Amino acid sequence: MGKDIKNICCIGAGYVGGPTMAVIALKNPQIQVNIVDINEQRITDWNDTDLDKLPIYEPGLKEVVEETRNKNLFFSTDVDTAIDNADMIFISVNTPTKTYGKGKGQAADLKYIELCARQIARVSKTDKIVVEKSTLPVRTAEALQGILSSTGNGVKFEILSNPEFLAEGTAIDDLLIPDRVLIGGNNTVSGKEAKNALSSIYEAWIPKERVLQTNVWSSELSKLTANAFLAQRISSINAMSVLCEETEADVDEIARAIGMDSRIGPKFLKSSVGFGGSCFQKDVLNLVYIAKSYGLDEVAEYWDQVIKLNDYQKRRFADKIIKESYNTVSGKKIAFFGWAFKKDTNDTRESAAIYVADHLLDEQADIIVYDPKVSEERIYADLEYLNTHSSEEIRNRVKVVSSHSEAVNNAHAIAILTEWDEFKAYNWKEIYSKVLKPANVFDGRNILDKEKLVNVGFNVYNIGK
Ligand code: UDX
Ligand code: UDX
Ligand code: ADP
Repeated sequence: MGKDIKNICCIGAGYVGGPTMAVIALKNPQIQVNIVDINEQRITDWNDTDLDKLPIYEPGLKEVVEETRNKNLFFSTDVDTAIDNADMIFISVNTPTKTYGKGKGQAADLKYIELCARQIARVSKTDKIVVEKSTLPVRTAEALQGILSSTGNGVKFEILSNPEFLAEGTAIDDLLIPDRVLIGGNNTVSGKEAKNALSSIYEAWIPKERVLQTNVWSSELSKLTANAFLAQRISSINAMSVLCEETEADVDEIARAIGMDSRIGPKFLKSSVGFGGSCFQKDVLNLVYIAKSYGLDEVAEYWDQVIKLNDYQKRRFADKIIKESYNTVSGKKIAFFGWAFKKDTNDTRESAAIYVADHLLDEQADIIVYDPKVSEERIYADLEYLNTHSSEEIRNRVKVVSSHSEAVNNAHAIAILTEWDEFKAYNWKEIYSKVLKPANVFDGRNILDKEKLVNVGFNVYNIGK
């Protein structure tokens, strides 16, 4: 039997830490879970009595928070106290791609992780299990161990890797019914004890046979591998979408046909304007960097192609809009339906919409964005972050509206960037009456009923058809 965990601290109240800890608290009422973050606004939002103001939108999340918050789930900025009181500490801080120095644009930036490790080392007075929850390059645990064991005060740390596989938009379901939970740790007596202690927390709701134990390095590398495989599937089907457009094959028919081969499987074969999200690009680039750092150029190039194809797909979509607009979008209104990187989330990190918009801004288009969950400020911040157009130009050319009908008035084209369900249910006849003719719809997610729209009068351009 593993050690009995009574108090958990999670450093980082983000998209991973927040929902994961809320579900752990829900299923383990005997454990006190403290989520801490240095971002005061984020903690204030997590503590807001109005549950619609939580900093993250996930279906089912507010119900879980409502049931647990201030019972055995607490949000605070007091990191030191939470560390001090904890038997187990999850590190769930962000690990963005480095934007400076060695490995710029590829390697993961581990400065936030290192800061956490130093803080844990400084504050801890009793032995602790430290769990890597953030996605990390393989062998990060070594660096963590180095920092944690350098205190010389006799406190022992056991390091585990427990990568999170939840997808945004379905986080709560993925946490409640995961395909598997992965726990990596040392194969020493204390390492095994720590793995069992963490395992027992998950076994409160997950069948034991779905909790997998491995060594630390396998666990760290499995997370990168899983994301790289998933990203690669999307780039593979997107590569076929380009061929389809040349050959009158239909990419959705191909996906159905190959998906029925049980060796391939039907999921993650939806051709699109390109994958986004905080994980895929970051993790594949990180894999490329790691392979290169071991001198494995062929391996690095293999995975790099997944990113190149994704960039190509985003650019191709923008180019298509330009081409079908008589080769110029200058001063034309392009209505964007969707900005989030996928439906049912307010997250926009690496969303294809950002890059498509940027490319259209190069061509002096006016862009009107409607997304049911993304704020105006977020959209401006995403574009400003690219540093390719001035803040003034962005605010002049890009307008954010609060309904789809506002977006389409006198629009030269409509582009679907996110697969929000509501887009399918719109009154497309009414939309047709408001847009300029010829009425062009660019369906970057292949979600609309093409036949119906064509009957209404639209020209519909799909991906891979
Ligand atoms: C393949 C396709 O499976 C089949 O659907 C198609 O009709 C013809 O091509 P085949 O070449 O007969 O069939 O055998 P397959 O089992 O696919 O193996 C092909 C090669 O891949 C073999 O050398 C096999 O050893 C290798 N392989 C297969 C691996 O290295 N790893 C695997 O996980 C699977
Ligand atoms: C992903 C992994 O799925 C998850 O296991 C990991 O923990 C984090 O990274 P996430 O980025 O939240 O999750 O969403 P996901 O559903 O994987 O979608 C990623 C991107 O791929 C989205 O932009 C989505 O629209 C796109 N996508 C997904 C496709 O274009 N086609 C598909 O078939 C599936
Ligand atoms: P993820 O998608 O991995 O959850 P997020 O960016 O949503 O990433 O969340 C990470 C959180 O970690 C942020 O809210 C950030 O403020 C927090 N964070 C980063 N470094 C520290 C630190 N040293 N101590 C406490 N919180 C931190």
